[in-house]
Amino acid sequence: MTEEDVRRALAAVKDPELQKGIVELGMVRNIVADAERVGATIVLTTAGCPLRNQIRAEAEQALEAIAEGRRVEVRLDAMSCDERDALAARLSDRQELTQSLFGPGSKTRTIAIASGKGGVGKSTVTTNLAVALAAQGHAVALIDADVYGPTIPLMMGLAAVPPEMHDGKLIPPEAHGVKVVSMGFFLPDNEPVIWRGPMLGRAIEQFLGDVLWGSPDFLLIDLPPGTGDIALTIAQMIPGADMIIVTTPQEAAARTAIKAAKMARMTKQHVLGVVENMAYYVCPDCDSRHYIFGRGGAFEIARLMDSRLLGRIPLDEATRQGGDTGLPAALDPSTPVGAAFADIARELVAPSGERDHTTKRS
Ligand SMILES: Nc1ncnc2c1ncn2[C@@H]1O[C@H](COP(=O)(O)OP(=O)(O)O)[C@@H](O)[C@H]1O
Ligand SMILES: [Mg+2]
Repeated sequence: MTEEDVRRALAAVKDPELQKGIVELGMVRNIVADAERVGATIVLTTAGCPLRNQIRAEAEQALEAIAEGRRVEVRLDAMSCDERDALAARLSDRQELTQSLFGPGSKTRTIAIASGKGGVGKSTVTTNLAVALAAQGHAVALIDADVYGPTIPLMMGLAAVPPEMHDGKLIPPEAHGVKVVSMGFFLPDNEPVIWRGPMLGRAIEQFLGDVLWGSPDFLLIDLPPGTGDIALTIAQMIPGADMIIVTTPQEAAARTAIKAAKMARMTKQHVLGVVENMAYYVCPDCDSRHYIFGRGGAFEIARLMDSRLLGRIPLDEATRQGGDTGLPAALDPSTPVGAAFADIARELVAPSGERDHTTKRS
């Protein structure tokens, strides 16, 4: 039994508030590891830390697991003012903060939704997918990062007013079980805003770090169309973020969508797949499918990217209406569009390829 063993065991214990390991945070001191005892002192950020009992219990449990009959001794202490300031300075490095909230190792799966050009239904797909995931019992957060056309508040039925704050952090409004933050909450009505790269980056940083998100299962990010600064910022701030590409079957849309996918490759983001929107129209009179924007475009992109088609969403009047009235079509999974989104949501949680695989093996 060495000090290193103790440190390794305690590395798994997280400060619930800071969402980081207590070892990594420098909160573990005075390690003892001898024939009779195994223990350490944990220095909390404040003496009156409301989570002290939880941290102590988890630390004791972690040491119990390696104790092999030795006595487990966990003592609690508090940081000095200087120590606390040093830690705060380190944590205020936003990149570190957001990575610990949403990056590799966190329980949140971050998925950015991208498209080559505007108007293909990116926001429609984002809101409906968010609602479908929430309906299946997942905790879902949604960031509207489309600063050029923030339509998420309208589509989710949320008022375009700045949300309330608590302790300097935003409380994200919730609709249909989804927590939402949008640039639309902060922009004066219909006024064009000229965004420059650094401002954009800063806004996204705040959406990630200065919002009381809790720890959602999914964080969906509606990106602006194309391959601009925001996609890069997100790739930088959340290295583990995945991407979904939305396209219509049309050639032109398909070509630009490939650019978005290439971008994802360059920034080492994993493309989960392609959603084909406005894939076909079901004639209400004769029930036959009409391929208004052509056929096979999205499948072709998925193939070119070594990715896959996650689903096809028909062109559907109720879906457009749902977007305009703040009641996403996916709220009703018995409709064809609702069912299509429910399928994509399930696919994200447990990819059917892998499901088939396990069935075959077992
Ligand atoms: N599958 C669909 N069926 C009918 N209308 C749709 C569909 N997808 C999107 N729309 C409509 O098309 C318009 C553009 O969609 P939107 O999601 O805002 O695109 P983007 O975010 O890519 O600019 C919206 O009015 C939306 O309601
Ligand atoms: Mg949009």
